[in-house]
Amino acid sequence: MMASLSNSWSTASGAERRGEKTTSGKRFVLAILAAALLLGATSCAGPEPEYRPTSTIKEVMDSVVDVNADLLWNSVATEVSAKGTIERAPQNDDDWKALRRSAISLIEASNILQIPGRMVAKPGEKSENPGIEQSPEVIKTLIDSDRASWIRHAHGLHDATTAIIKAIDAKDTAALLEAGDTLDKACEACHKQYWYPEGGFGSGSVKKGP
Ligand code: HEC
Repeated sequence: MMASLSNSWSTASGAERRGEKTTSGKRFVLAILAAALLLGATSCAGPEPEYRPTSTIKEVMDSVVDVNADLLWNSVATEVSAKGTIERAPQNDDDWKALRRSAISLIEASNILQIPGRMVAKPGEKSENPGIEQSPEVIKTLIDSDRASWIRHAHGLHDATTAIIKAIDAKDTAALLEAGDTLDKACEACHKQYWYPEGGFGSGSVKKGP
């Protein structure tokens, strides 16, 4: 590499050499100018936040997490009625493809939940079952005071969904059912810490709901 480089320098004519040097010299000056401009721009305005977490955690739960988890859970079921037992399971490639779309939405929701600065609920929004559910303000404080725990629960959702995707790719109904159970546990683990703490919350006088 070095040898061929020095070789091309030594065989170039004087004019060519000067030409090349002038061009690279110009490039160098331009690079310095660009760097100076960039520095100037960032030091004046400050770096713009990369993420724009417009929706609340409550909205992400309702619009992304819950709908897709329900589609996955409902895809495999045993229905027992007077007429007998019906096993519900994905029937064809289209069914599996639709489930995979839900699983991808769910696994990426785990990253959406980790985006810094996302509000828990809209300002003034109250918990729907006060006394059972923690208020959005308290949830936000809990998340911000121990971010590592929040991330751990989001990873729990991610990893449970990984098993779901594996089952879908293998078109393995039994594995899908089992992974669905693990997913349920990942939801519950996070909800119990932030949303409706087991054994009540606050002074401990509030009893857990049904
Ligand atoms: C990393 C933590 C975390 C995980 C994991 C998680 N949730 Fe949530 N979820 C929350 C929090 C916090 C709230 C409370 C937000 C609020 O209503 O103030 C919530 C609320 C909800 C709500 C109520 C939304 C509304 O409109 O009030 C539903 C439904 C829900 N979660 C479903 C799920 C399901 C299903 C899963 C698993 C597939 C799941 N969540 C996993 C943290 C989590």
